[in-house]
Amino acid sequence: MLRETTLTPAQLILPMFVLPGEGRREPIGALPGVDRVTPDLAAELAVEAAALGVSGVLLFGLPDEKDAEGTSAWDSNGPTPTAVRAIRSAAPGLVIATDVCLCQYTSHGHCGLVGSNGEILNDASLPALGRAAVAHARAGADLVAPSDMFDGRIGVIRDALDEEGFAESVGILAYSSKFASALYGPFRDAAHSTPSAGDRRSHQLDPANRIEAVREGLIDEEEGADMLMVKPAITALDVISDLSQQSDLPVLAYQVSGEYAMLRHAADAGAFAFDAAMMESLLSIRRAGARAVITYSALDVARWLA
Ligand code: PBG
Ligand code: ZN
Repeated sequence: MLRETTLTPAQLILPMFVLPGEGRREPIGALPGVDRVTPDLAAELAVEAAALGVSGVLLFGLPDEKDAEGTSAWDSNGPTPTAVRAIRSAAPGLVIATDVCLCQYTSHGHCGLVGSNGEILNDASLPALGRAAVAHARAGADLVAPSDMFDGRIGVIRDALDEEGFAESVGILAYSSKFASALYGPFRDAAHSTPSAGDRRSHQLDPANRIEAVREGLIDEEEGADMLMVKPAITALDVISDLSQQSDLPVLAYQVSGEYAMLRHAADAGAFAFDAAMMESLLSIRRAGARAVITYSALDVARWLA
């Protein structure tokens, strides 16, 4: 009767790693229980998610081809656009969000272009992000989710979408407050996106900075984002709380790969029950102010809740 916080399947979003091709499923060593799947199998998972009441999916494409400019990121027949079309027809009511970044598509594994001294080029990378977002929009995505953390990308992506006729139909879920975190380790394994040299600290946030993390969210709101996101979640509950109070936009949280892996491995070692720890973590993220949570456990959690 007096519970202050709810957790329902509608507040969950399932991330998926999408391979090119058909009928292929690969387990991910660093993320036990999560597979890479081809678009046809992604559509089957999406149908299952929709049946359980999960609101949406977040797609990460894993292309066959990588180059220094990440040009396969805007291939209309790449894994993400192909999966968007397959999911749209199999589960029409599901919210389809797509991760927009270059790191899965570049040979060097950085989120944008790299200069001659190894420096990551902010402004020069923005048009490519706009092109990728438009490719996802044309395939039928509801939301594009830029995860690069470069300055100015939300405005550039919004303009690119508007110019191509997606002003009303496609929204932006901004990875607005994304820390440079060790907890993305299993994801980089899953997405083959570990930088070959250097790191992402020139554009992702310093974990020491709470005020800056909120400011990044407010800037993305100003540039035209429709929703904000904080990640990781459990190490940034303060930022989720601050941002959800200071912004009028819905704030989502991403319970990232390392958070999932910590709970999974600790539970497998007998430290606690996975389901109880996962529920407590998600409820805490909701309590901090997140309107919805992106979690690799979305299907499990929806089943437990049922
Ligand atoms: C790519 C991206 C990352 C994640 C989502 N998009 C990794 C990174 O920035 O290195 C992390 C998600 C997770 O750990 O589950 N820009
Ligand atoms: Zn990236």
